[in-house]
Amino acid sequence: MLAAGVQLAAATAGASELRPLPPPAAADPALLELGRHLFHESRLSGDGSRSCATCHAPARGFADGDALSRGYNQSGHFRNTPGLTGLRLKPRLTWDGRYRGDELPQLVEEMLTSSFTMNGDPGIIVERVRQLPQLLQLWQRAFGARTLPRFDGIVQAIAAWSASHDGGDTAVDAALRGDAGALSPSAAEGLRLFAGKAGCARCHHGPAFSDGQAHRLGVPENAAILGDPERTVALLHHHASRGSPDPMVERSDTGVHALTRRAADRGRFMTPGLRGVAHTAPYMHNGTLPDLAAVIAFYDRGGGRGAETRPLGLSARERAALVAFLEALSPALVAPSAPPPAFDYGTQAGAGR
Ligand code: HEC
Ligand code: HEC
Repeated sequence: MLAAGVQLAAATAGASELRPLPPPAAADPALLELGRHLFHESRLSGDGSRSCATCHAPARGFADGDALSRGYNQSGHFRNTPGLTGLRLKPRLTWDGRYRGDELPQLVEEMLTSSFTMNGDPGIIVERVRQLPQLLQLWQRAFGARTLPRFDGIVQAIAAWSASHDGGDTAVDAALRGDAGALSPSAAEGLRLFAGKAGCARCHHGPAFSDGQAHRLGVPENAAILGDPERTVALLHHHASRGSPDPMVERSDTGVHALTRRAADRGRFMTPGLRGVAHTAPYMHNGTLPDLAAVIAFYDRGGGRGAETRPLGLSARERAALVAFLEALSPALVAPSAPPPAFDYGTQAGAGR
């Protein structure tokens, strides 16, 4: 058998190059520990009902297992919660790519304050961190003994911890570095198909397995959006807040189009990263594909209406090989699945200051 690395060199020369995991990013342990606690802290949300981890559950690859995110109480959401594995490597964030990868703090701020996710108020968030003695202590370890919590630092800590999960240096990374025996025969065949006949690497490339571009696959509508008034309101609000001239007539998530208003962008969504993807079913921006086999079958059919992809003519063995490849990119979840303890408010006023 030829080394996967050799075959890839031929199959992926040029823009769609697959690249292994780069060296780990430097990170301040005190900042990460603060971020870990804040990520799990439901008191940052408006009514104290949910944390980042409620929707981005570490034990589910930082997704929630639902087709559509449940959203904030009495609001509802119209998109699937993406996993966060490999976040630091992703060139663009969210399904419509409205943030660049280096704009992660702005996105964290949106997640904390949007009435569709956590509905938190920056002033109250800062006050809650200040009032929880253990959180205040973690803050002061990260930012200095004499400092008091600030919103930008809270956002920075959450962003740092969120971006610190690469999902491990996988067997796929080893194969991309030339270790021919790293993958099972089926996953190795999947890698060759991914980079070759199946054409996946055209869009899923680079260290995050995403080109950071938007494409139209024709993913079918999720009827649960218009079937649920709260989700419908969230969708209409999304269109209105992006300047749609007539938001009330919008009946679907138009993806990048809502941001650019260019006709050609209707139905285009960002190519998601694929690290850890086996843990984050169901799939696509609206969660309509239940598992990886369904995703591969969808691509094999050529995608849905208006798709820019073409039928692939894969055999059952080839489809299974592509699933095995995606699983090899998703090693077993290790800790941080145990959430940190929830802290109590101190009994003495000003405790910990
Ligand atoms: C109510 C559920 C919910 C909560 C709570 C929530 N998120 Fe999200 N998150 C989502 C959804 C849904 C999206 C997709 C949004 C979109 O595409 O428009 C998302 C997208 C993201 C992304 C983009 C990932 C990617 O690959 O593009 C990041 C990063 C993120 N959230 C981090 C956080 C952090 C950090 C918190 C806590 C401060 C948080 N989220 C709280 C549901 C939630
Ligand atoms: C033309 C670009 C393009 C090609 C080619 C392509 N993808 Fe995708 N992929 C995307 C986009 C865009 C999405 C998100 C689409 C949406 O939600 O509407 C996606 C979504 C996915 C998802 C779901 C990820 C998630 O978190 O929900 C998986 C898995 C996936 N692709 C694997 C593959 C595989 C395997 C192939 C090859 C058979 C492939 N892709 C080919 C662009 C592409």
